[in-house]
Amino acid sequence: MTIKRIAVLTTGGDAPGMNAAIRSVVRYGIHNNLEVMGVFRGWWGLINEEIKLLNHRSVSGIINQGGTILKTARCQEFETKEGRQRAFQTVKKNAIDGLIVIGGNGSFTAAHIFYQEYKVPCIGIPASIDNDINGVDVTIGSDTAINTALNAIDNIRDTATSMERIFVVEVMGRDSGFVALTVALAGGCEEVIIPEKKFDLKSMCHEIVNGNIRGKISWIIVVAEGAGNAEEIARKITEITSLETRAVVLGHIQRGGRPTAFSRELAIRLGRYAVDCLLKGEAACVVGLSCNKIVTIDLEVAIKKKEVNVEELYNLVKILT
Ligand code: F6P
Repeated sequence: MTIKRIAVLTTGGDAPGMNAAIRSVVRYGIHNNLEVMGVFRGWWGLINEEIKLLNHRSVSGIINQGGTILKTARCQEFETKEGRQRAFQTVKKNAIDGLIVIGGNGSFTAAHIFYQEYKVPCIGIPASIDNDINGVDVTIGSDTAINTALNAIDNIRDTATSMERIFVVEVMGRDSGFVALTVALAGGCEEVIIPEKKFDLKSMCHEIVNGNIRGKISWIIVVAEGAGNAEEIARKITEITSLETRAVVLGHIQRGGRPTAFSRELAIRLGRYAVDCLLKGEAACVVGLSCNKIVTIDLEVAIKKKEVNVEELYNLVKILT
């Protein structure tokens, strides 16, 4: 099939660098004589035909912006057969030959189902601060998010050291300890609590008290949101150790902000590669970086749970404390 018109959408949680990916898809698509349509608000926009033709100028001035000019959403309607049927009508009506889906695990799971049902070629570009796409080393936005969280932790370290306090800092990651582990290591934090690993609060408190006796008086404990609640952990630490403890929840500030050079470069390269995949007749795959090379991974493989070896980083955090 000759590809003449493609559509691009962003779905799920936004990630810094999505705009750079959109810009790359649009301009590289036009360079290859394609028409590129933008779908607004992810799958919802496909269901409700919120879609428009983009041109070179539509993506001007966005390369340095976080978020996504196409907007994004988590769309429950697309989980239903009726919703996907309506989305397919939009695809047919607008003569769309292929979709480029910029998002994370949930987005690709939806794309996989849609492809199986309607055989509309779908190419995924991994963009998520959670870095949770199987077969891919790093997702667009994850580098920016960890640097944002790290800046905050560096600031907290100043006050933690000066006031000799314990801080519990909650970072994003419902099912993934990626942000927590990376910033704990890079920020020289004393403890990290992640969903992938069992955690014993009492023994940590024991270590804090022992450290305190030896003269170690400030601690930063990083907790991934899926592994516990910072306020609650801080309260329990004070209860057990009688030491003053503060909680900080970094929340959505980690998802916004200017993408780093790495997030942008990755987004630009993957955007181009995704268009090339459609032109070559590929369907149902994800493009991504693996061992420093851009590769394609079958959608059905990419949506499997990413097995991460957390032990190495986790142990290093503990050893270097
Ligand atoms: O996009 C991934 C993520 O930021 C997770 O780390 C987090 O658990 C979740 O999204 C939060 O989603 P929402 O913004 O819908 O509350």
